[in-house]
Amino acid sequence: MRRPIFAGNWKMNHTLKESKEYFEKFLRLLQGKDFFDREIVIAPPFTALYYVRNLIQDTEIKLAAQNAHFAEKGAFTGEISPLMLSEIGVKYVILGHSERRHIFGETDELIKKRVEGVYNHGLNPILCVGETLSEREEGKTFEVVEKQLKEGLSLLKDPDPERIVIAYEPVWAIGTGKTATPEQAQEVQSFIRNLLSETYGKEKAEKIRVLYGGSVTPENVKELMKEPDIDGVLVGGASLDPEKFFKICSINIKAEKAECILPDYSQIPQEILEIPRKYKKLVIVGASPKPERPSYIVMDYLIKEGFEVYPVNPAHKEILGRKVYPDLESLPEGLNPDVVIIFRRSEEVKPVVEKALRLNPKVIWMQEGIANEEAKALAEERGIKVVMNLCFKKIHQLGKWKR
Ligand code: 13P
Repeated sequence: MRRPIFAGNWKMNHTLKESKEYFEKFLRLLQGKDFFDREIVIAPPFTALYYVRNLIQDTEIKLAAQNAHFAEKGAFTGEISPLMLSEIGVKYVILGHSERRHIFGETDELIKKRVEGVYNHGLNPILCVGETLSEREEGKTFEVVEKQLKEGLSLLKDPDPERIVIAYEPVWAIGTGKTATPEQAQEVQSFIRNLLSETYGKEKAEKIRVLYGGSVTPENVKELMKEPDIDGVLVGGASLDPEKFFKICSINIKAEKAECILPDYSQIPQEILEIPRKYKKLVIVGASPKPERPSYIVMDYLIKEGFEVYPVNPAHKEILGRKVYPDLESLPEGLNPDVVIIFRRSEEVKPVVEKALRLNPKVIWMQEGIANEEAKALAEERGIKVVMNLCFKKIHQLGKWKR
């Protein structure tokens, strides 16, 4: 299992006096607890780094910097070198944070050099990637994340997977109180792991930690940490308060990471299959390769029941031995599916329904919770039946969860 990281990014907050008060409280809260199954990391501003190093030197807490230049020294006014950071005991460096990209104009070109410089000085980069709200709304999330990830890591040829960390921080969720849902975060984070696997191989990709960041709080951290590809969190606002950050860092990880045993499908009431029984070819949009996701269980079930299933997901190539199509436009010519099943995806549901309608299915089946009236009306105007019922939920609930 990957060792989770709970990292606090203080951004431009906390003077030395405030840092001292913070650690008086935080260390008191940590006293007597052992957290060897996780890493707790704090990224103070540069002025407080050395001071904080002294405050935490007898603890397991790791120090991070919020940026670093790539060169060891030189005429770079306002910059701090990786050598200077390693000299004072910094272990991690946050790079490519969206505030650096969007407020200070840092480019992938610059960020990749910083990643390389930091790595070559024995420090561990935490490379941040994430889309803006307009990019998400235009359906560009995967494209943006792929570019930032690939370029950011492009100068690291054969890195030690335990030394690189990725943080998915959707820009629209940072400091806005609008957290990505665990499903939204997981969808992108598993896409990131797949990209890492293409670049470095599956074995290494499984060792790289991928964190989530964006309005993480003590209230939502547990749900986020249940996701299989969320290996920790990068916390801004809530890390400024020692009590809140302690609550985040001290969750019971084992209880959150559950393992799913696939259900015994014979328990499924036959009447819930009434609709698919009439049909043969089913397209599943947003199919997942993770057994704990409803779409995986539903797909596994439908295959076992003998349906022809066509999964669609840009993040994966193969699920349950079936070829996965990146989008609805790339399905085999003349497929004419009977049913298009839509699971939660990064995109808004309406454009997905619009694309699905072009395939002329007989039924559009939407997962409970994502369907909206507008999307439903769109299909019904065309005389296509829309089904929203509890069938998937029932199938999913039959999964057994080992904790
Ligand atoms: P918030 O937790 O304040 O949204 O900030 C997230 C972040 O940017 C961490 O790097």
